[in-house]
Amino acid sequence: MIGAMDTGAGSSGTTERAQGAGGAVGAAEAGADGLVPPPAPAAEPPVVWVDGSLSADGGAVVDALDHGMTTGDGVFETCRVSDGVAFALTRHLVRLARSADGLGLPRPDEDRVREAVAAVLAARPLARGRLRITWTSGPGPLGSERHGGSTLVVAASAAPPPAVSPSVVVVPWTRNERAATAGLKTTSYAENVVALRHALAAGAGEALLANTRGELCEGTGSNVVVQLRDGRGRPEQELVTPPLSSGCLAGVTRALLLEWAAQEGLPVVERALPLEALEGAAAVLLTSSLRDVQVQTALDGRPLETEGLPARAAELFARRAAEDLDPR
Ligand SMILES: Cc1ncc(COP(=O)(O)O)c(C=O)c1O
Repeated sequence: MIGAMDTGAGSSGTTERAQGAGGAVGAAEAGADGLVPPPAPAAEPPVVWVDGSLSADGGAVVDALDHGMTTGDGVFETCRVSDGVAFALTRHLVRLARSADGLGLPRPDEDRVREAVAAVLAARPLARGRLRITWTSGPGPLGSERHGGSTLVVAASAAPPPAVSPSVVVVPWTRNERAATAGLKTTSYAENVVALRHALAAGAGEALLANTRGELCEGTGSNVVVQLRDGRGRPEQELVTPPLSSGCLAGVTRALLLEWAAQEGLPVVERALPLEALEGAAAVLLTSSLRDVQVQTALDGRPLETEGLPARAAELFARRAAEDLDPR
């Protein structure tokens, strides 16, 4: 339940479509061969640590009037877990503190968060998983004013492998780059939930949003990188990602791609792009903690290029991320 608000998953298209249709495909339905498939194995409930108490059986509780629950007054992080290690944890903790600053929340105690992360990952060995750290203003009133508490939740569960043929669609809603919460990773994620459901219903795995200026901004749980075409229709020899002034989240994956690409001479630049630039784009990549750098195979149903520079960017990221599990 706690992980349900996070939309950063790079799950398979099949899984995403099943979720978009409102849940798992009925296990008792006959398959194409007329046989009833065996029921899918029940997923283990996430391991959840709430303010010092650990639960691995789905019984974790948070105060019903937690302001993170009633108003979305909280911040969070999602990390990929590989072989029991949360990738880039330090960068995620830096951003968690920055998001807390942005909401005017006290910063969580970093040592305590690290202890909770260690406890959760020790309780559930995960070959591939997602770890979520949530920090809210704690129990509050029924209205939007805030009491002065806090709640810390750390949860982890297994995560499906990234989609084989990921695709993306543009959705009609906008990111407000002038919002009070622009660029903060807050638990007010309902607009992402709606946009992602729209994408899933269209058979895609992620939704792309423009900002209020009509510029390309980001996905519901990912940053976007585009390869445009030159005047002759050939793919440009650079990848472009919207700047933070677009209102996008300062993605950890995006930042690492920019840094590592610069170190290795791979041209990845930040530049504002009108949303319409997508129409002729050769390639689209999404970056997020669970996707890493993921080359998309289709945009709004139109096939995209996947070889060349996009593939090199994905390979570079995979190699560097494997070399350093906590790049500072
Ligand atoms: C809105 C949004 N943009 C971008 C990202 C990608 O950020 P990161 O690479 O740190 O996972 C996320 C992550 O979930 C997100 O929620």
